[in-house]
Amino acid sequence: MHRPRMVIKTKSVSLTLVSAISFLLMPGLDHAVGQVREPNKATLVIRVDQAGPVINKNIYGQFAEHLGRLIYEGLWVGEDSPIPNTRGLRNDVVAALKELHVPVLRWPGGCFADEYHWRDGIGPRDKRPKRPNASWGGIDTNAFGTHEFLDLCEMLGADPYINGNVGSGTPQEMMEWIEYMTSDSDSTLAQLRRQNGRDKPWKVPYFAVGNETWGCGGEMRPEYYADEYRRYATFIKNYSGNRVQKLAVGPHDDYYKWTEVLMSEAAKQMQGLSLHFYTLPTSDWSRKGSAIEFGDKEWHATLVRTLRIEEFIEKHSAIMDKYDGQKRVGLMVDEWGTWYDREPGKDMGALYQQNTLRDAVVAGINLNIFNRHADRVQMANIAQMVNVLQAMILTDKEKMILTPTYYVFKMYKVHQGATLIPVELTAPEYKVDQASVPSLSASASRDKDGRLHLSLVNLDPNRFAEISAMVEGVSGSTIKSVTGEVLTTSRMNAMNTFENPNAIKPTPFSSFKVQGSQLTLSIPAKSVVVLELR
Ligand code: AHR
Repeated sequence: MHRPRMVIKTKSVSLTLVSAISFLLMPGLDHAVGQVREPNKATLVIRVDQAGPVINKNIYGQFAEHLGRLIYEGLWVGEDSPIPNTRGLRNDVVAALKELHVPVLRWPGGCFADEYHWRDGIGPRDKRPKRPNASWGGIDTNAFGTHEFLDLCEMLGADPYINGNVGSGTPQEMMEWIEYMTSDSDSTLAQLRRQNGRDKPWKVPYFAVGNETWGCGGEMRPEYYADEYRRYATFIKNYSGNRVQKLAVGPHDDYYKWTEVLMSEAAKQMQGLSLHFYTLPTSDWSRKGSAIEFGDKEWHATLVRTLRIEEFIEKHSAIMDKYDGQKRVGLMVDEWGTWYDREPGKDMGALYQQNTLRDAVVAGINLNIFNRHADRVQMANIAQMVNVLQAMILTDKEKMILTPTYYVFKMYKVHQGATLIPVELTAPEYKVDQASVPSLSASASRDKDGRLHLSLVNLDPNRFAEISAMVEGVSGSTIKSVTGEVLTTSRMNAMNTFENPNAIKPTPFSSFKVQGSQLTLSIPAKSVVVLELR
């Protein structure tokens, strides 16, 4: 494999950058909130000499389903709403999402995708049919359809990823949807798009053939779906220069047989295979655990569960390698994130949940894992964007708050499209009862301007970490500057609320010492840190 070398300017002047005062104060800070004073001591080698693949920006993708208050209220308020909007899309939410540089957005589901018929969502809004949302309840007015979704993508600068309907649709319906969106011809469907207000065709680079066809998408066996996939994929055509990447429904968790069958029977016809994995504190779908009420035990159990995704990625990738040694087919983790029980007594919409520092830690761990597996993981879409599951943003009428997970995506966006730099991390375990997880998680990348980005998560809620890090690989290299941010609070279940929207947000990080190519860091307990090294 081609391993590009890291370019660090190696002037012989050795500049020592010391942020001594805050560094020395760091253990005291932990003391102030009553945490264990003895740190976890770790070492980290940043292997600039072993640069890996490009981290596909799409790993920082999002997912927006017609579910609860995500589309309606969360994104779409309609043109006549008193909530400030642009063509019906709320300005505050769009502005906040723009800050994340959302690279790709998956829509309209989820389970909803296999009951969605695209013709319901085009043309004059007052003439669109109202349909029951059979998966998630309520009536869908279809006010938000193809044009509104693609308008949102253009506002955000995100690539559209449309999830087609296999469960209750037909290849013809799928084929015509793509023609409607992407054809520049004078075909009847392209003309219909023009009549509906859009002259130029859109580019639609990603299209999936169904969702969870082993479950809500049709309860299929892998052998049956593999054939269905091949049939539907045949009719996904490229019009007017649009190039569609065809994505097949992949496994969930450890459903290895599904991957084996899909790869052996249909790898040639696909550019991507999905993986779904949700983090439940209890690992039990009948009582998942609370989003906001938890202690050390539930915190630890949540991290044990979330870390399993690495094993699933590695094992599914190993199966994919058997059929696709060139890693042409991407593993698309197009649903991931935390899933908790509904808060008792609160009805804020289906699958609405609050988001705490624990979710930020989960996000940081998962994004580090995806970065480190950038050779195979080409897309990931957190579930979901607004008001549903592990959301970036929560809304209540005209109010909006940014979640701790939002801030992790904002801090980590520097990795988008950068080159993976492997890290070797040696850290103590963080144990509760008999179970144990590494106390730290890390990933690094180098962007096109040569800046190194290092993201670190301290999983231990009680001990700060003292990390001796060094940049390995370029002789005589000197770290000239370090800047960064940290996301943490004293309480593990700290969250932003509509009453207190700024309870948790990133602050500048200055607890480090630099000497040549060595860096000593003091990372607070239960925190996410992202640093830029020059
Ligand atoms: O994200 C919520 C649901 O979880 C999706 O609709 C479905 O694909 C998955 O089971």
